[in-house]
Amino acid sequence: MGTELLQKAKQPKSKHHVVVRQDALAWVCASSRRSNGTDGIVGKSENLDFHIHFTREVRNYMKATSGKTLIGLHSLSKHYGTHIVLDQIDLEVGSGEVLAIIGPSGSGKSTLLRCINYLEPPSGGTITIGPTTINAAQPVSRSELSSLRRRVGMVFQSFNLFPHMSVLRNVSLAQERVLGRSRAEADERSMQLLNRVGLAEKAAQFPGRCSGGQQQRIAIARALALDPEVMLFDEPTSALDPELGLEVLAVMRELAESGMTMIVVTHEMGFAENVSDTVMIMADGQIVEKGPSTEVMRNPQHERTRRFLRAVHDR
Ligand SMILES: Nc1ncnc2c1ncn2[C@@H]1O[C@H](COP(=O)(O)OP(=O)(O)OP(=O)(O)O)[C@@H](O)[C@H]1O
Ligand SMILES: [Mg+2]
Repeated sequence: MGTELLQKAKQPKSKHHVVVRQDALAWVCASSRRSNGTDGIVGKSENLDFHIHFTREVRNYMKATSGKTLIGLHSLSKHYGTHIVLDQIDLEVGSGEVLAIIGPSGSGKSTLLRCINYLEPPSGGTITIGPTTINAAQPVSRSELSSLRRRVGMVFQSFNLFPHMSVLRNVSLAQERVLGRSRAEADERSMQLLNRVGLAEKAAQFPGRCSGGQQQRIAIARALALDPEVMLFDEPTSALDPELGLEVLAVMRELAESGMTMIVVTHEMGFAENVSDTVMIMADGQIVEKGPSTEVMRNPQHERTRRFLRAVHDR
């Protein structure tokens, strides 16, 4: 079991799925008696004193994935008149975590993302991103808002690029306006990012000359150009035909593997299961179920989740 843990830790895609179960713990306890290392866990389980010694790889892995909370939502709610769209949402997302949100139309997924970066002011609750906490019950200052938004990049279903500006200007503009970078600095960063999303050769083109998948990758580069700590994606591939969607998903996968904290509203079940660490199901403005992605996707606990997943598979 110890070896298995180590093997799992070495596989990057399994990095968040190392779970020490009770029986495994007992095994590690017994075998770790032979170990004389000092780094590990000392404790007691079922009358057995134990000292678990982790190899350096496992310790590094655990350090890297201990995931401080980067986003915290507490009792977040949103209503339009009497229509409750978000109903007291509590949610934590760790640094480097990739959270996929799925759920039926109208369940509040987009509204949740839009509240997180205050494109939509919530009706109640608090939003914490890193060191910034905003309480919806109190007036929000401009500096609080810009501090929140600087930390959060957003990519929409419709790419929202400026059609009259070159691809390069689209990526550089906000860097100059928001971050105060010179045009040369902004352009240099833009070219790095266009290269990262595989579109450096499109820099001088207008967005209208690019395919939908290319435009969405430009929109991702534009969001990344502001060096956000968190990226929010609202159905980034649903306006694209499947092949173009794959290009965008590949960029998102690379981003996830680089350690970016991401919240992704998606109907791409493959992405939810294989790329995200955590899957959350929303219905009627509430979180129905949330857990490690493979568990939720393969063995959902709630009938509402099962019904939703069945409907998606039957489509
Ligand atoms: N500006 C608004 N005014 C009134 N109602 C709104 C507004 N925006 C959203 N709603 C309502 O809030 C509910 C949730 O909408 P939201 O767009 O968050 O759902 P969603 O889960 O993203 O759905 P979809 O999968 O179709 O994108 C819907 O019932 C919608 O009609
Ligand atoms: Mg939506």
